Amino acid sequence: MAEQVWILGATGRIGRTVAAGLTEHGIEAVRVGRSPEAMPAGSLVVRDMAEIAAEIARRRPAVVVNAVGGYAATALTVARAGLPGGTHYLDAANDLIAVPRLLAAHAEAAAAGSTLVTGAGFGVLATEAVVAELTEGRPAPSRVRVDALASVALEPGVLGSGYATTMVDALVAGGRRIRGGQLVKSRLAANPRTLTLPDGATVKSAEVASGELLAVAAPDVSVTSSLAPASPAVRAVLPVLSSLLAIPAVRRFAIARLAALPIKAAPRPRPHSWGHAVVEWPDGVTREGWLRAGDGMDYTAAVLTRAAVRLLDGGIEPGAFTPAAAFGAGLAEAAGGTFLLDGDRQGRIAST
Ligand SMILES: NC(=O)c1ccc[n+]([C@@H]2O[C@H](COP(=O)([O-])OP(=O)(O)OC[C@H]3O[C@@H](n4cnc5c(N)ncnc54)[C@H](OP(=O)(O)O)[C@@H]3O)[C@@H](O)[C@H]2O)c1
Repeated sequence: MAEQVWILGATGRIGRTVAAGLTEHGIEAVRVGRSPEAMPAGSLVVRDMAEIAAEIARRRPAVVVNAVGGYAATALTVARAGLPGGTHYLDAANDLIAVPRLLAAHAEAAAAGSTLVTGAGFGVLATEAVVAELTEGRPAPSRVRVDALASVALEPGVLGSGYATTMVDALVAGGRRIRGGQLVKSRLAANPRTLTLPDGATVKSAEVASGELLAVAAPDVSVTSSLAPASPAVRAVLPVLSSLLAIPAVRRFAIARLAALPIKAAPRPRPHSWGHAVVEWPDGVTREGWLRAGDGMDYTAAVLTRAAVRLLDGGIEPGAFTPAAAFGAGLAEAAGGTFLLDGDRQGRIAST
């Protein structure tokens, strides 16, 4: 039992890919889910998240990979269920409720000998790792801007309640940035911009309130995402939309309608996903870097897989961390990413 990795949400897109990746590494991956007809023999069938937490406490797997989503509601409960058994925990949360909540469990995780890692996906790692590379061996920067520019192929089906809830809650929460070392409110989708990627493609992005803000130690931090609404028409109606969605009945209605939205299969819009960072120091020095990855969903699954392997190998400090803080920026490369830092970007692009 001790070396098992449990995959929660094993019938989902991320969970399926992580389970397959771990099996390729020769690791015993136990699929955990509530839909027995969709899981192979030997999977652990549960009714709900409460039963998952109880089973973790009882059977003490070595590592739990939480690919269920809805992290704000259940991530900490699931992670805590494993602490008495020293179980390690990974998730791909990237919101400003789940990420700080898990990080706040640092002392109890350290005391239990468990490592809890949140944001172990394209977000947070793709930008956190670039900042870690750019700032290594240097004093603390004064300002950091990161851009999370995922490119994702769509699978046919419906949008699903997880994404629908995330989208609606993001609209209600509005924008955030860090100013003077404090998390402060800002306008949702502020500072829209068009970025030219190292491969020559362009992509629009705008500021978002996401977990990446908490993975960077600087007094002035902002995060943009290519998933933020960047068009002037949509941005103009955001404040009204945000107020409307704050009404509980409207929120429930909007989530139900969005969750049932049919999604057609579509290839990813750009060949690569990119994490990007611009770091400034008080003396005026500025550095810029990129992380190039493939499909953002596949990359997220690869990050979780590699992180689980590293936890099984041992030697990772106990406590609660973002991914590069736990494993180093090298995790971003181990998962298939390539750094392009400062002036070497043309040279490295040309050699690929
Ligand atoms: N940080 C990043 O960059 C990043 C990137 C990609 C995804 N993500 C996050 O990763 C999570 C998973 O994404 P996905 O695309 O794989 O989602 P998905 O395809 O919708 O899969 C969700 C899985 O969770 C299960 N599930 C949902 N609610 C459950 C509940 N109450 N109890 C037990 N199982 C439950 C589903 O089981 P059923 O089949 O039984 O419904 C399914 O197996 C999402 O939160 C997503 O936001 C993060």
